[in-house]
Amino acid sequence: MASEMRQVDAVIHERLSSQVALIDRISTYIVSAGGKRIRPRLVLLFARALGFHGPERFELAATVEVIHTATLLHDDVVDESSLRRGRATSNALFGNAASVLVGDFLYSRAFQMMVSVNRMRVLDVLADATNIIAEGEVLQLMNMHDPDISVDDYLRVIRYKTAKLFEASARLGAVLGGAERALEDSCAEYGQALGTAFQLVDDLLDYQGKREELGKNVGDDLREGKPTLPLLIAMQRSSEAERQFVRSAIEHGEVERLPEIIELVQRTGALDATRAAAEAEAERARRCIGALRPSPAREALLELCVRAVNRTS
Ligand code: IPE
Ligand code: IPE
Ligand code: MG
Ligand code: MG
Repeated sequence: MASEMRQVDAVIHERLSSQVALIDRISTYIVSAGGKRIRPRLVLLFARALGFHGPERFELAATVEVIHTATLLHDDVVDESSLRRGRATSNALFGNAASVLVGDFLYSRAFQMMVSVNRMRVLDVLADATNIIAEGEVLQLMNMHDPDISVDDYLRVIRYKTAKLFEASARLGAVLGGAERALEDSCAEYGQALGTAFQLVDDLLDYQGKREELGKNVGDDLREGKPTLPLLIAMQRSSEAERQFVRSAIEHGEVERLPEIIELVQRTGALDATRAAAEAEAERARRCIGALRPSPAREALLELCVRAVNRTS
């Protein structure tokens, strides 16, 4: 994959260049900081698994990463985050207004890129996905500081804000590969399940991860009063006094309570249960690609299921 991913990066850099100096500066700043590039990998691996080798795969792989980058710029403003990919966030460095506006530039550039591929089906998939992602971010905003949301409400948010782009990436690879609808849907479901596992682990790592490995601050979710699965499960398994403690931490974003909250999510088994939920989603993803012909690309897709759960960064 290494040489193919270099080609994707070359397309990304080419497409992000702008005559407007601040756009160039911010987009280069965030894109060159790295990132795992999982979504473009999904486009390439599904295209390859289905025998498609045309150049459109690089354009679409780059497109989903540009969309992802736009959501990160916006997300860090909304979450008031200060660290991303091991560096100060764009909002910390250049301000909220610049981050939001350059995020909009990236979004609209992604639309120019997807149009250039000249396939209605591609536009259909990405128009739906970006719309759902926006709904997910707004739903999450509505759930902020609310300890009474259900596990189903939480799952809906992560399906929308994160899994949808994984799903669209996988689906695009299948569309390029000319898969019939049933196979395309299985590939898409793989993406949805993998993306759900990925966000479950992200929410776990916000309590259990290491800042140096993640390149992000831990405890951001608590500070923002995000009712993520570790907290929802901990509340189900706590005494009344502990439950009140977690409720208050969510309601007021009491990040200074982080050590006690970490102790609680560990002791109640909430972190292990979150990991088990991620493992179940990863297993569902694996089952979805059972029908693909054995190939190195299919192996890589299976390997991604393991890595999504075991990752520390
Ligand atoms: C971060 O995504 C946002 C989430 C959906 C959790 P990634 O973890 O894929 O971010 P990068 O691209 O590797 O930095
Ligand atoms: C993922 O949620 C946000 C997007 C899908 C853009 P988070 O808010 O948990 O992502 P991080 O932890 O900031 O990367
Ligand atoms: Mg965030
Ligand atoms: Mg997170």
